[in-house]
Amino acid sequence: MGRLQNKVALITGTGGGQGRAAALRFAREGAIVVGCDFVAAGHEETAALMQAEGFTLYGSAPVDLGDHEQAKAWIDAAVAEHGRIDILYNNASAAKFGLVHELSIEDWHYTIRNEIDLLFYTTKYAWLHLAEQRGVIINVSSTAAWGGSKAAGISAHSAAKGAVVSFTRQLAVEGAAVGVRAVSISPGFIATPGTRPFLENREVRAMLLDGVLMDRPGEPEEVVNLAVFIASDEASFITGSDFVIDGGLLAV
Ligand SMILES: NC(=O)c1ccc[n+]([C@@H]2O[C@H](COP(=O)([O-])OP(=O)(O)OC[C@H]3O[C@@H](n4cnc5c(N)ncnc54)[C@H](O)[C@@H]3O)[C@@H](O)[C@H]2O)c1
Repeated sequence: MGRLQNKVALITGTGGGQGRAAALRFAREGAIVVGCDFVAAGHEETAALMQAEGFTLYGSAPVDLGDHEQAKAWIDAAVAEHGRIDILYNNASAAKFGLVHELSIEDWHYTIRNEIDLLFYTTKYAWLHLAEQRGVIINVSSTAAWGGSKAAGISAHSAAKGAVVSFTRQLAVEGAAVGVRAVSISPGFIATPGTRPFLENREVRAMLLDGVLMDRPGEPEEVVNLAVFIASDEASFITGSDFVIDGGLLAV
């Protein structure tokens, strides 16, 4: 019996590095996984990987969760097909970077839209279904919520990820009244198909890993290990917390 047996888990960004690892692992733990991504090819690759293991990736792509109507349609379709939502894993995000005086207004709004607006939309539309199940929300923040970066201009990203943490705390407060837990995860640098090319350049790698006590990036599966625990009944006394998983970056 898996740790998430028969739970209906909605995972966003299933075309990306951590979303793919989460979809595979949650299915292995017995969950019924509903995914989406605004890049259809990535989501379909994940579906194929799951199928090779005998699992189904439900949901659809492309879905742009920064558009509240598409977010609602994705949630409604999941409930129509599976009858309930036990876990909402808000993993998807997209950001633009640049030094604060160079960052365009468009890039600022793009980041806020795709890192925090989308969390509000999925949460808003899933909320009453989660309350029916006494379910759990996992929101993916970042160490960018907790400290700046010398390597890149992350002002919009850090503002959005800081908002993810504080949004989660308020969800925990409102959720306690109806049995919904809300928890955020703040990963440090994680090697994904998107970030791996940067790691191949020795200088860039050193800059990105500066201060990481373990002197390596994290793997998507390591973040997902934590998410499985938070999503499971083993974490029944945990709500409102943020869990940093960063190889020791914030320890110094
Ligand atoms: N990779 C890292 O180093 C790192 C570090 C800290 C936090 N994070 C966070 O972890 C989460 C997962 O990121 P990842 O590393 O797997 O990156 P990724 O880019 O591989 O995956 C993110 C996925 O979200 C999708 N997405 C983005 N905006 C969307 C939207 N509006 N609608 C639907 N899908 C959308 C993308 O298409 C992509 O497939 C993100 O919230 C990210 O900010 C990543």
